[in-house]
Amino acid sequence: MNKELDRYGLWEGINEVIVTTLSALGKPNAAPIGMIRRDGKLMVRVYKGSQTYTNIGDTGLLAANMVYDPVLFVRSALSDVAEEVFAFIKTDTGEDFPVITDCSAWMLLRAEHNNGSNVLVAELHPIIGNINHQTIRPINRAFNAVIEAVVLATRYKVFVNDKYLSQIKSYSSIISKCGGSTEKEAYDLIFKLI
Ligand SMILES: Cc1cc2nc3c(=O)[nH]c(=O)nc-3n(C[C@H](O)[C@H](O)[C@H](O)COP(=O)(O)O)c2cc1C
Repeated sequence: MNKELDRYGLWEGINEVIVTTLSALGKPNAAPIGMIRRDGKLMVRVYKGSQTYTNIGDTGLLAANMVYDPVLFVRSALSDVAEEVFAFIKTDTGEDFPVITDCSAWMLLRAEHNNGSNVLVAELHPIIGNINHQTIRPINRAFNAVIEAVVLATRYKVFVNDKYLSQIKSYSSIISKCGGSTEKEAYDLIFKLI
């Protein structure tokens, strides 16, 4: 499994990906989730209250989508995404499962989970995957800052504490200095969606 995870860029540590899932009624969902790779295992910890938590509990499946679109990170974290964002692939049992159309790669995973009261912890096992492209992306500090800001925005939505708002605002200068138009659009979108 390790070589397969390496090939998909899921290296040791926490990999921020967009997780796609399917509800029991067949509705696709997308949300940023950290995939934790440690000691030869791939895991997720998903907090109760999210659609992702419900869907993984109901279906035992999720797809990790490797994505470099900051706007999609913000939209999927703070609201629902448009249906056009999803493409459907066939699982090993012949059912359709959503992935992100414009991802660099996706990997469908079986989640061996353990529903705690507040957090679902799942060990993940690869089923199938596809690498669409391997675009070269140097590190952009504004992209990273948008990711930090949207993590804080998800906490702000839950705890409604102004300390998160001032931390989000502290990323403004780095985003205007280092960002392209998509990072700036993504940062502005955070304020519209919280
Ligand atoms: C970069 C990033 C990583 C995140 N990682 C996790 C995670 O590992 N577990 C979790 O429960 N929530 C995580 N979140 C928060 C969820 O994305 C957020 O609660 C989201 O609103 C859930 O959407 P859903 O209700 O459509 O599932 C993360 C958010 C961001 C921006």
